[in-house]
Amino acid sequence: MIPQSFIQDLLNRVDLVEVVGRYVKLRKAGANFSGLCPFHNEKSPSFTVSPTKQFYHCFGCQAHGTAIGFLIEYSGLTFPEAVRELAQSVGMAVPEQDDRLTPEQRVAQVAHSISLGERLSQAMDYYRLQLRGAQRAITYLKGRGLTGEIAARFGLGYAPPGWQNLAQVYADYADPSLTESGLVIDRSDEGGAHKRYDRFRDRIMFPIRNARGQVVGFGGRIIDAGEPKYLNSPETPLFQKGSELYGLFEARAAIREVGYAIVVEGYMDVVALAQLGFANAVATLGTACTAVHVQKLVRQTDRIVFSFDGDTAGRKAAWRALEASLAHASDNKSFSFLFLPAEHDPDSFIRERGDQAFLAEIQAALPLSAFLIREVCADKDLATAEGRARMLFDARPLLQALPPQALRLQIVRELAHLAHSTPAEVMTIAELPQAVAQRRAPARAQRAAPSPIDIQITRLLLAHPRLVAELDGAALEILERHGLPSMAVLLAACKTSAAGATLASISETLKQGPEGEFFAAEVRQVLGGVETDRDTALSDLRAAIVKLRIQQIRSELDPLAARASADPAARTRMLELMEEQRRLQPDASRAV
Ligand code: UTP
Ligand code: MN
Repeated sequence: MIPQSFIQDLLNRVDLVEVVGRYVKLRKAGANFSGLCPFHNEKSPSFTVSPTKQFYHCFGCQAHGTAIGFLIEYSGLTFPEAVRELAQSVGMAVPEQDDRLTPEQRVAQVAHSISLGERLSQAMDYYRLQLRGAQRAITYLKGRGLTGEIAARFGLGYAPPGWQNLAQVYADYADPSLTESGLVIDRSDEGGAHKRYDRFRDRIMFPIRNARGQVVGFGGRIIDAGEPKYLNSPETPLFQKGSELYGLFEARAAIREVGYAIVVEGYMDVVALAQLGFANAVATLGTACTAVHVQKLVRQTDRIVFSFDGDTAGRKAAWRALEASLAHASDNKSFSFLFLPAEHDPDSFIRERGDQAFLAEIQAALPLSAFLIREVCADKDLATAEGRARMLFDARPLLQALPPQALRLQIVRELAHLAHSTPAEVMTIAELPQAVAQRRAPARAQRAAPSPIDIQITRLLLAHPRLVAELDGAALEILERHGLPSMAVLLAACKTSAAGATLASISETLKQGPEGEFFAAEVRQVLGGVETDRDTALSDLRAAIVKLRIQQIRSELDPLAARASADPAARTRMLELMEEQRRLQPDASRAV
């Protein structure tokens, strides 16, 4: 958990124009910047970035968000990753809420990961340079059908033979950061003698980049035969196999363009596929596909095709991928599984049969639902009650993992048919709620709905949160005593970051809060609406607050009027309110 206050500070510090500008060509257009939307295909720019609101918004595809949202959408980072990335760019250290480290230690930690990253990227440069003169390695790569262009795109390199080549790269070869980054191995033998040597020797080097393009590790392939075929970087603070996908950084644009991602098993498959016209492939790193992997992919695309080798290991891997995908299998996402003939991986398959044959395999890939049903029925005698019961038993955890949407219902129906039961019975057995696609939030019956004036005030404050600092005590009190939950939340958010507040910084907080859905909708309205300048907004805001107060007075007056003749206290209060109303609204009060 990252504290909200930090997120606000962070968003006040970063400049969205600069963040977006790293990826999108932006031009100044009036008060805003505009460019071609990176989230949909377009020829004329409808994507705008507002420096004052610190928000981007596309009038074409409605994509919008803060700097954090941008990195999540564009680079496929998780929320904490995006926060960390931004924090790093402005030199802030992210506090962890349950972190026992002091601020100084946290700064040191960030500095440490930066330095590990630098070490790795220096190594990549070195390996790439070494590949130039390495005839054996070049011959090997050419023999596998790769051109220099593809090798360069993936930053392929070569670690020459020899034990301490990296000592030429790093003057401080003994530094612990080199062992920590996994580039150097340190081992003391029984006699106590110290040995320090390069991990990667005489291997083709595949740099593994994270979603931002930073090198976080390497895979090194032996040339020719030998064991182990691939040597990989150990897990480090920068590199976790269960969350990185090889080739994702390189494949991102292609995934967007063709609308789907192919997930394969090997480094070579990714590189070879790119060479052969499928630049949208990524690979897990010799580990099972995890939910984190799938999550990274579903951020980039709605359609994922897993391609596994045709052997038993491939089948197992496919099943693990299915399990990792279930939670993400909502109605607008599609997962499918293709199984190549046993002797093939994608690389060898295309080389033997051609790209059209592979494309045909992709189109014919088994949808998640069919794969799931096939597997839960496998090895069961559905002619017996026991076999059918066992089938439902195996299906239960899978059904529970699926989101309660139409796809789940469809699978339930098919299973019901196979099990000689009804969908309702299958739902009961699997302990699923009966109603599919029920609305999440229960109806909030008694809740006061915001009035048009509430909405106006909300939008003005969202667009110009710093205006709270301009309001006098009386105006603030009117808002505070208003009693509308969303108003209280909004005021609190504006106040806590009043000094540097922008729409961006407060909206991240608001979206997480209890009125999240309301604010998300209002933020969209503000982004899509016309911009008002600060002074106009302030006078509009003041006028709206007066109107709000008059509304409040009227609703308090109504019941008082009936009691006033008999109740002196009610009468006093009534006069007070009428006096206040006269002050606020000199014209209308004449009519009272
Ligand atoms: P493969 O043996 O299928 O790799 O292993 P590949 O990429 O197709 O290699 P080529 O075509 O023989 O050159 C699949 C993945 O498993 C991991 C690697 O990530 C590899 O890409 N692996 C495999 C290892 O980590 N170590 C190994 O010794 C072998
Ligand atoms: Mn292979």
